[in-house]
Amino acid sequence: MREIIRYHDYRYYVLDQPEISDEKYDALMRRLVGIEEAHPDLITPDSPTQRIAGTPLEQFAVFRHTRPMMSLANAFTEDEVLEFDRRVRRLLNQDDPAYILELKIDGVAVNLRYEKGMLTHGATRGDGVVGEDITHNIRTIRSVPLRLSMDTPPDIVEVQGEVFMRIPDFQYLNRQRVENGETPFANPRNASAGSLRQLDARLTARRSLDLFVYGAFFIRGDAIPETQSELLAYLGKAGFKVNEHYRVLSGLSETFILHREWEKKRRELDYAIDGLVLKVNAFEYQRVLGATSKSPRWAIAYKFQAGYAVTRVHDIRINVGRTGILTPVALLEPVSVGGVTIRRATLHNEDEMRKKDVRIGDWILVGRAGDVIPEVVQVFSDRRTGQETAFAMPETCPVCGSRVVREPGEAAMRCVSLRCLAQVKERILHWASRGAMDIEGLGAKLVDQLVDSGLVREIPDLYRLKREDLAALARMGVKSSENLLTAVERSKTRDLVRFIYALGIRFTGLVTARLLARKVGALDKFLEMTYDDYLSIEGVGPKIAGAVSDFFAGTENRRIIANLLELGIAPTPIEQWESGPDNDLPLQGKTLLFTGVLLGMTRREVEALVLTRGGRIATNIGPRVDYLIVGENPGNKLAVARDRNIPVLTEQEFFARLGRRKE
Ligand code: IVH
Repeated sequence: MREIIRYHDYRYYVLDQPEISDEKYDALMRRLVGIEEAHPDLITPDSPTQRIAGTPLEQFAVFRHTRPMMSLANAFTEDEVLEFDRRVRRLLNQDDPAYILELKIDGVAVNLRYEKGMLTHGATRGDGVVGEDITHNIRTIRSVPLRLSMDTPPDIVEVQGEVFMRIPDFQYLNRQRVENGETPFANPRNASAGSLRQLDARLTARRSLDLFVYGAFFIRGDAIPETQSELLAYLGKAGFKVNEHYRVLSGLSETFILHREWEKKRRELDYAIDGLVLKVNAFEYQRVLGATSKSPRWAIAYKFQAGYAVTRVHDIRINVGRTGILTPVALLEPVSVGGVTIRRATLHNEDEMRKKDVRIGDWILVGRAGDVIPEVVQVFSDRRTGQETAFAMPETCPVCGSRVVREPGEAAMRCVSLRCLAQVKERILHWASRGAMDIEGLGAKLVDQLVDSGLVREIPDLYRLKREDLAALARMGVKSSENLLTAVERSKTRDLVRFIYALGIRFTGLVTARLLARKVGALDKFLEMTYDDYLSIEGVGPKIAGAVSDFFAGTENRRIIANLLELGIAPTPIEQWESGPDNDLPLQGKTLLFTGVLLGMTRREVEALVLTRGGRIATNIGPRVDYLIVGENPGNKLAVARDRNIPVLTEQEFFARLGRRKE
């Protein structure tokens, strides 16, 4: 059982190519847990059930590295790379040593020790000589093998890699932190570091961390690989996740081409990279070159242009979100950062704004946190003229004028009114979004129009819209009115998972909505469930249970649900959905590849959606890919797919296909 589950973990977490459904996987896991409960003596430390330690540590132990963990020298220009190459050739007395180029993952360096093939230690770099023992947290990372998959593992091997968090996971985590009144992480690297620094492994386990490995040395046992590229293949076979974008170069000039390419293409990746690493490929040469006190002479980090620019804050505004949270946003003189024009930067909340002391009129340094979210990095207070004005958080909601509260211990301010139009608009947008009720054509502009004209004040109003109402709106032709009404009508029979998700309950994404829907089955049952009932669902903790029971206890929410039912919204119960004869698993046997940024869904949510509909997800274009799904800013996968006649679907088409069988 352990071996079977280990295999499926590897397919899912390392290769991104699961072979079985979540349900089947859960069943396997339950069987293993059953066996282990009946025979505790059979439990081994490498069992898939033993990833998460139940008892938190008091403090981290010190880990003394076998070899110092060094860092890399940086190059920012072609000249600096050429200089590195000249020195390598001179020291080796070799004209044309082979190089390998890898991505430089922007995460946290870790060192893992395996003894007789079993993971025994995981440590941070620390000062390079001693780090912190974070074995308990490393074990929670599902792509880290607890046992190497090789027949005769080396006696002791230490593997180096970079722990990182995917950008959608980082954004999701930050949204949650803001909702909880916690300070958001500045970038995915900090989020990874913070997650690895938990004394309670159960907290780390919730953080969806991942690991790419790029190095190893053998303390005892035969070292088979002779070159870095062989080592990467070796590590891949041993069960690790190795970043696929490495290349053995045919000449140094390729470095410059690839550097320019990746500088643009990096945004297609769903993790942050901050440059490329150029390495001499042969270990024999690496040994000859050796290291300085700080860094090896056989490698150099060729960094990307730092994503920073200087600009001015011309105003600070308040944005009111779906749950009523007020977020201060700095409006900037437009400035280009790494090829992208930035016009606004979030200030997160009052405390953050005060801490940085950002004022209207200030000159600031703006950067892209983890290369995604524009952020004020620094205020140049010495450039102040005295004309700058500090911004005070409003005492009432700037949209609806209602009272604003800040709960004790929370950083976030919230508008208390459920009828606040900003919240109403966000709620309707969420309701109509693709992962939710999927009302095609109902985007932000139209929602603005519908709400501002007074036609729509709450979700049920969408289902009360008449042709005549729409005709009165600007830019609404007969055809588009017709289309909207059809799309609204179609949304009435989405399944219960989407319906629950669409309600916009706090902490309830698609995955949680699915857990709830599967357990509860039909909508009317929700109205009878208690906090304890929710808590008894696997995967639902006190926070979600509280949010969901509060939601369904609210009289206003109950009225809205009752109204929706009266208006003919009839969410398909989930059992029916899952066992229905012709709509069962529409993606069965299909392999999908995604490129670009999907709107309205995190990567995990899309994954969950695909997997639960029987499909698989590929990470690269290959012969098995049936469809390429393109989001915003698609990468060159799109061109390759067209080239190979692989069918391409837009995100909308993809969701429409998933939904069509219900209509
Ligand atoms: S090789 C002696 N390869 O960047 C260190 N490092 O300062 C050899 N990093 O400490 C490191 N991606 O944390 C290497 N493909 C890669 C990397 C990588 C990210 C990190 C690592 C290292 C830092 C450089």
